[in-house]
Amino acid sequence: MTFPQTRPRRLRRHPALRRMVRETSLATDDFVYPMFITDGTGIRNPVSSMPEVFQFSIDQALIEIDEVAALGIPMIDLFGVPREKDLTGEIATAEDNLIARAVTAIKKRFPELLVMTDVCLCEWLQHGHCGLVQGEEIINDETLPVLARMAVSHARAGADMVSPSDMMDGRVAAIRKALDEQGQPHTPIMAYSAKFASAFYGPFREAAAGAPQFGDRASYQMDFGNPREAVREALLDVAEAADIVMVKPALPCLDIIYRVRQETRIPVAAYNVSGEYAMIWAAANNDWLDLERCMMESLMAIKRAGADIILTYFAKRAARLLRAY
Ligand code: PBG
Repeated sequence: MTFPQTRPRRLRRHPALRRMVRETSLATDDFVYPMFITDGTGIRNPVSSMPEVFQFSIDQALIEIDEVAALGIPMIDLFGVPREKDLTGEIATAEDNLIARAVTAIKKRFPELLVMTDVCLCEWLQHGHCGLVQGEEIINDETLPVLARMAVSHARAGADMVSPSDMMDGRVAAIRKALDEQGQPHTPIMAYSAKFASAFYGPFREAAAGAPQFGDRASYQMDFGNPREAVREALLDVAEAADIVMVKPALPCLDIIYRVRQETRIPVAAYNVSGEYAMIWAAANNDWLDLERCMMESLMAIKRAGADIILTYFAKRAARLLRAY
């Protein structure tokens, strides 16, 4: 049956009816809120390319998290912005490292809030690469034990989940083994499985002070043209016992999210990255786009593509809007 008997517009005539037949829904439970943690006290540094995003010292982070928890956002993701960096990962893996201290303080005050930690070395090493370096080479296998130690230090401090974002081969297996051997078998791993070498991470590199000092990340992050390889990376991480696989960035990779959703049976996360956030803000600040409508459309698109979980700097704003419905 076709027009005039069939009229798709019949179901679009009433707002309640539109809501009833909407195929995709967003909820605050979908969100993870990324936060940047730095040394010191009383620090709340705005990130110029990311409105409403700050680097927080631990005491100030607790104030921010009050709001995050009150909004019902289930999980935060902590990135370290340490004052001191080295070449070996000592600072990142020390027993009382910045992130371990942050996790302990946050879990003490907010036991019900889930705290995930970023496991990657770019913010902690002087050259800004995600792994150890020999000459100009980012060396894979030597980096794995450092990442594993980092993950264990976070889990021991009480982290509810760890998320390796470095893109070294074999790191999920190395981290899983270390967690299991060191008494943390219940700590899940959210693996940045299909992480592309993307220009959309630009603002993050200011926020996390982790831009590479030489070369780029193309020898470890994925080439932008490779959907099959993205699926392969996701399946490798599943085989290495990742609990959740992630696709990053999100909006330029909706096809990848869709494919990974089809090919795996575990939850899929997507990272709505700093550049995606900055882009909408910049246009909104020019009165060229409506901030909140574009935000909700973006998040809905990521969900519709197949993501179960969305890491987004918009989490607080979106949660506020969802509560108002
Ligand atoms: C570092 C890391 C990056 C992001 C998350 N972890 C930057 C990069 O790989 O250069 C990007 C997040 C964002 O842009 O919001 N391993």
